[in-house]
Amino acid sequence: MNDYDYEQDYDYEKSPFFLILILILILILILILILILISLKFQTSMTADFFAGLERLYNGYVDSFRNADGVLPEMIGLKLRHTRGVVDDAVLIMEGEGWSAGDRLIGRAGALLHDTGRYSQWKEFGTFQDLKSVDHARRAVEVITREGWLAGLAAAERKVVLSAVALHNRRELPEGLDNVIAAQARLVRDADKLDIFRVIETAAADGMLDRNPEMTWGLRMDGTPAPDVMRAVAAGTTIDYAQVKSLADFILIQVGWLSGGFHYRTALRLAAERKALEFREAWLGKLCGVDVVKECFDAVRRRMAVRLTATGAV
Ligand SMILES: [Fe+2]
Repeated sequence: MNDYDYEQDYDYEKSPFFLILILILILILILILILILISLKFQTSMTADFFAGLERLYNGYVDSFRNADGVLPEMIGLKLRHTRGVVDDAVLIMEGEGWSAGDRLIGRAGALLHDTGRYSQWKEFGTFQDLKSVDHARRAVEVITREGWLAGLAAAERKVVLSAVALHNRRELPEGLDNVIAAQARLVRDADKLDIFRVIETAAADGMLDRNPEMTWGLRMDGTPAPDVMRAVAAGTTIDYAQVKSLADFILIQVGWLSGGFHYRTALRLAAERKALEFREAWLGKLCGVDVVKECFDAVRRRMAVRLTATGAV
């Protein structure tokens, strides 16, 4: 008796099992294709749409710091307005420097995100002084990463934005920095300084500075500037913030930015147009006498004039 050979007799290609298997394989292939397309879509370059989404996420995050009545605490509101000012100033600088559309979007993102760390810093420590709390730039990178705001951005662009954020509050940029990162970091640093001018001028005028001594690091309001701070400002060298002991020193730090702190000439031009030097000269004149600071301000005025009238690359 012959054994029945079921393998020979069975038509696999017509069996429901075989058809289901093929169907499953096709479905798996389609799924893989969809996943590839999704990952490509989410690993995008910075676009206007991506930036708009980033702004929505950022505003939603800031909303989480509102009081129960929906109002932002005064100092949190101050940082949000500052951030918007930094974005606006970054746009002006990039226009003046003739940046490409793609670079401008990255620049706006760095400006938008640069002070992300301020909100939780204020909530946890009640201060904006990094030395007494946390490095707010490092905190910003932590929050941005944890929230996944840049997860969909192409890795190279994500690195540029996060680096600009991380480096925005360094006294000096590290040497040997990648050119693209350096350009974006300098943009945020310049735009930040420009808007700090506005913040301090507004706060000095409307009494906010008196209500919130924290804005000037709780420094004593009287006293003449430290001679080493004045020397550094006149020479255009950076100032160690540990040297800053009084409101006069604090104001001089900002004068020092005009002396040598701005990288882009457009930023310096904007500061000059906004009379940043004149405002501080009058302020310090009232605080400690015109004669005390005249030499320092004259030196800064000369340095600014040389830089603003120079031709060629800066
Ligand atoms: Fe900052």
